Amino acid sequence: MKIGNLDLGHLPLFLAPMEDVTYKSFRYLCKKFGADVMSTEFVSADAIGKEMEATKRKMTIFDFDRPIAIQIYGSNIEAMVWAAKVAQEANPNYIDINFGCPMKKIAGKGCGAGLLKDLPKLVKMAGEIVKAVDLPVTAKTRLGWDFTDMPIIDLAERLQDVGIQSLTIHGRTRSQLFTGEADWALIGKVKANTRMKIPIVGNGDISSPEKAKAFADQSGVDGLMIGRGAIGRPWIFRDIRHYFNTGELLLPPFVPEVVESVKEQLIQSISWKPEPRGAILEMRRHFARYFPGLEDFREYRIQLLQATELEQVLAILDAIAVTYASVRVDYTNISLK
Ligand SMILES: Cc1cc2nc3c(=O)[nH]c(=O)nc-3n(C[C@H](O)[C@H](O)[C@H](O)COP(=O)(O)O)c2cc1C
Repeated sequence: MKIGNLDLGHLPLFLAPMEDVTYKSFRYLCKKFGADVMSTEFVSADAIGKEMEATKRKMTIFDFDRPIAIQIYGSNIEAMVWAAKVAQEANPNYIDINFGCPMKKIAGKGCGAGLLKDLPKLVKMAGEIVKAVDLPVTAKTRLGWDFTDMPIIDLAERLQDVGIQSLTIHGRTRSQLFTGEADWALIGKVKANTRMKIPIVGNGDISSPEKAKAFADQSGVDGLMIGRGAIGRPWIFRDIRHYFNTGELLLPPFVPEVVESVKEQLIQSISWKPEPRGAILEMRRHFARYFPGLEDFREYRIQLLQATELEQVLAILDAIAVTYASVRVDYTNISLK
């Protein structure tokens, strides 16, 4: 599939934008393990307008990142146009607009999925941004507001008509938040609409290579986007690609291999955070997800979540590698929640 002139190959695997997750250190590992396309965390148009330091850091693109989008969100069309221009200066490969975030603090203020309540404004915003920047512009959204209001087939056409170059669809409504199951059949209907020419990327609940294949086959989408399934398992991209190429499943990694990757993420984080403590805090949500299915792991988990110094964390990780030297992590019972 292509976004503008950017050729992403056949059925590219996207790392989903995730606030407080898809920062530099995590993107680094996902790229290493085969993510084809990445995105920054979403960035608020208002924060861009205020030139906040944290926002500039979020928009920093590294060489290893490419191809990558900067994702922006907001409710005011002029502010979003301005934000898109500033984001363009940071030189991503394209700009993605968030029309899907369901959180009250975002959607409740008319940003993200909140715009699904005002489709004329949503479409106008997309069109104005397309006109204002030279980079390709894409959008990410949900099926609609709730089960009584799912305009996605029509909305996809309208976004295409104003120049959006690719559309990612998370197969849930705003009201569902993360409950229920993603509806890949409806994503498939958008793709099957003969009026649609731009690529459609499917998103929602990809937690294994088999699911990736089943959803891709069912919907016929041009690309797959993986979010929660990559947290604690950045090699899911490699696993999926291997399964697509060979029909075989790779075995999960041994614990010491996982430990090496955790250390690598930690080092990346430290190299970019103003102080190591910030990197350790950043790693906490990941620690909990990196070691599934290990017997008697609870004590180590608590230690990892309580450690505040780098030396402590490294010592705990080394102890984990020794204790589980010949054990593989186990994804059999993982849940995306
Ligand atoms: C912690 C977290 C943060 C998220 N932040 C964003 C975001 O910044 N922008 C966005 O478009 N979606 C965001 N999402 C939604 C994901 O991109 C994705 O659409 C959703 O998780 C469904 O995909 P999955 O089932 O593969 O996780 C976030 C999801 C999670 C779990």
